[in-house]
Amino acid sequence: MGVGVGWACVMQMDDASEAGRAREAQSRNIILRDRGSKMTVTAKQASPETQARADALRQELAEHGHRYHVLDDPAIPDADYDQLLRELEAIEAAHPELIASDSPTQRVGARAVGGFAEVRHAIPMLSLANAFTDAEVGEFVRRIRERLDLDADGCALEFSVEPKFDGLAITLRYEGGLFVRGATRGDGESGEDVTPNLRTIKAVPLRLRGADVPAVLEVRGEVYMPRAAFEAYNCAARASEGRIKPLVNPRNGAAGSLRQLDPGITAQRPLAFYAYAVGVVEFGDSGAALPPTHSQVLAQLRAWGVPVSALVETATGTQGCLDYYRRIGAQRDALPFDIDGVVYKVDALPMQRELGFVGRTPRWAIAHKFPAQEQTTVVEDIIVNIGRTGAATPAAKLQPVFVGGVTVTNATLHNADQVARLDVRVGDTVIVRRAGDVIPEVVGVVVDRRPEGTQPWRMPERCPVCASQIEREEGEAVSRCIGGLGCAAQRVQAIFHFASRRAMDIDGLGERLIEGLSDFGFVASVADLYDLSLEKLIEMKRLSDERDGTTPETVKGGKIATKWAENLIEAIDRSRSTTLARFLYALGIPNVGENTSKMLATWFGEIALVRQMPWPILKAVPDIGGESARAIDHFFAQPRNLQVIDDLLARGVVIADAHPPIGKLRAAIAPARVLANMELPRVTDKRAEQLAAAVESLDAVLRTHPDHWRDAGVPAETIDSLQDFVSTVEGRGLFARSDAALQLIRSRVGHDEDTVATPLDGKIFVLTGTLTTLTRDAAKERLEALGAKVAGSVSKKTSAVIAGDAAGSKLDKARDLGVEIWDEARLLEFLALHAPS
Ligand code: IVH
Repeated sequence: MGVGVGWACVMQMDDASEAGRAREAQSRNIILRDRGSKMTVTAKQASPETQARADALRQELAEHGHRYHVLDDPAIPDADYDQLLRELEAIEAAHPELIASDSPTQRVGARAVGGFAEVRHAIPMLSLANAFTDAEVGEFVRRIRERLDLDADGCALEFSVEPKFDGLAITLRYEGGLFVRGATRGDGESGEDVTPNLRTIKAVPLRLRGADVPAVLEVRGEVYMPRAAFEAYNCAARASEGRIKPLVNPRNGAAGSLRQLDPGITAQRPLAFYAYAVGVVEFGDSGAALPPTHSQVLAQLRAWGVPVSALVETATGTQGCLDYYRRIGAQRDALPFDIDGVVYKVDALPMQRELGFVGRTPRWAIAHKFPAQEQTTVVEDIIVNIGRTGAATPAAKLQPVFVGGVTVTNATLHNADQVARLDVRVGDTVIVRRAGDVIPEVVGVVVDRRPEGTQPWRMPERCPVCASQIEREEGEAVSRCIGGLGCAAQRVQAIFHFASRRAMDIDGLGERLIEGLSDFGFVASVADLYDLSLEKLIEMKRLSDERDGTTPETVKGGKIATKWAENLIEAIDRSRSTTLARFLYALGIPNVGENTSKMLATWFGEIALVRQMPWPILKAVPDIGGESARAIDHFFAQPRNLQVIDDLLARGVVIADAHPPIGKLRAAIAPARVLANMELPRVTDKRAEQLAAAVESLDAVLRTHPDHWRDAGVPAETIDSLQDFVSTVEGRGLFARSDAALQLIRSRVGHDEDTVATPLDGKIFVLTGTLTTLTRDAAKERLEALGAKVAGSVSKKTSAVIAGDAAGSKLDKARDLGVEIWDEARLLEFLALHAPS
């Protein structure tokens, strides 16, 4: 997640019901301890009404727990559940004789003394063979068909297909429907009795539902830590400044929590559970039996109140299995828990019995693994990369390792604090994670494998590229090289950003080429790109081939290959005509992303204007905050940056959509507003109105005698604050510049309020599904050009949802909320109608 930690914490806490449950567990824990002391004092015989109420509450709570954990369909909010639970707790505190072991109040028990007891598994807990390729799955199915002689009668083979949960295997024993014992898998023959810890897991039913429950039932499944709980835990760990050690991954979180001797601690780490098999099953004299297929057994478990994942399905033959693998694989990163593959199990239990086992694995099941997202490898070096704004990011150079489907040799370490937190050292064996498209990161160190003589890592004092100082500002997580564009690394990154698709969109100008152009002095600033020629490009390539000792790629069949250079020159040429929004974004102003650039472009219309605006005026534009406004002002105050802009324009870069500032700007920059935007102490919006009303212009503020304000009824402390500010050089400068800027805008802005047509001003659109004639980016850009905002999710505020092919949940939500829905044809029609002339 690319957001600040604090914000991520809030999101997680709000989003995750796990977090809510952690709080609940915590509060319950306290109540339970309280009850311990109250018990002897208040106990007296319960009345039949009280007893009936306790029974009713237990039943109701069990029902809500079942709906929440098994049916995934809660009927009441968490707070109401808490309320019922507290009522039951109060009754049980007053009448301990009413406490039953399956009461939802009895999940947190006493601390285990002297470790966990051993439990022998009457039926061993076996493991699965793995398949990594489609061919191996095909082989698995072929072997089964052969053994069962299915090909003779052309029978289809049905499988139960399931996620392979990445947690910890456990077994739960129910006697007469009551949960009596739970154990870890251990070595498969015997495990550890972790009953008190398993009782704290709300997804583990303390009593089975229904009248037909077996006399003995062993449920087997996986305990796991949902990702949200993992994130929330690590958030708290980061905030604890070293007191709590962060978890490496959710699986370790689950394993560590289950092995806690104090169930109170397990209860605070919200774990969950899914069943995937049964062990011992005895129906006693009832004559009942389990159904004949594995999928029906799982359905039966579900009916008994045991959670079974909704992702479990049945599939036919190899192709059915592989289809499932791909479908689940596509959802993998979006699931609320980690999975490391899928499992295929022959569905018919008689067939399973016939197939039997080889060694410790069944012939009737196989795990089809996804590419591992975590691997261990050795850190060969820790280097520092310098980014576009000078940010110095430590990265581990790794012994090559295959993870997440690619070979990884570099992994980010984020910043100096992260290195310190993990205590990653050169020579360490580390766990590297690469999930989805996320860049590989080091998530933990295997301290047991640390060689002797390693040293803690420290951020170097000087930039490895330009030898400038590396500094870190107070309260900032990032360290920066202060070399600016004098630092080759920052220069290369700045050019790379300038050329990127959403900026000037120079196709084919990759980082390697830019490095070559920078190293050999062909390009020192982005403006130099527009001076490049075919000859210069080819010369650069020759020089870099020579330096690197590589066979010149430029020479093929004795002829110099120049097509790439021709294409690049063409792409550079094409980029000459651009929009103001792209141009501003391309400059790489710190804190200015695409949206801010678009706002600046829409409101001011001309680069000549933007570059002269002091920050209190920039701040008047919606969505531009104080920090961005200051960054923009600061950027354009640097002569070097202004020179680059002049050079670009002089080399033929044209801002094709330049226009006068929009009419609304005039209202937004009323002197009172600008004054208020300066954020002077005691100059509130109201006082700014008063001050501005008493003078002709902002500039006049500098010449106004304090008595004049006093007569106008401005309070003394406001006048003092203003006087303090204008007595500084900075203050006087800001007033003078703001005044000049106001005049400039007034002279430029058209008198017609609708100088620029923005027919979608204030409208919020959401794009969903696949558009056929436009890319999503293009549709977004064109809507924004008409003044609309394009958001990622549908809410009541959404003006319209544009639904392409195969639109899914966003379209449903739009329908639910009664939000207007446009199809692609309607969008195109609208865009054509409002196309800029
Ligand atoms: S069935 C006899 N089903 O994978 C087969 N196992 O290597 C018993 N696992 O220890 C296992 N999801 O921890 C089965 N849907 C699933 C599973 C699953 C995860 C784990 C389990 C087991 C290991 C097998």
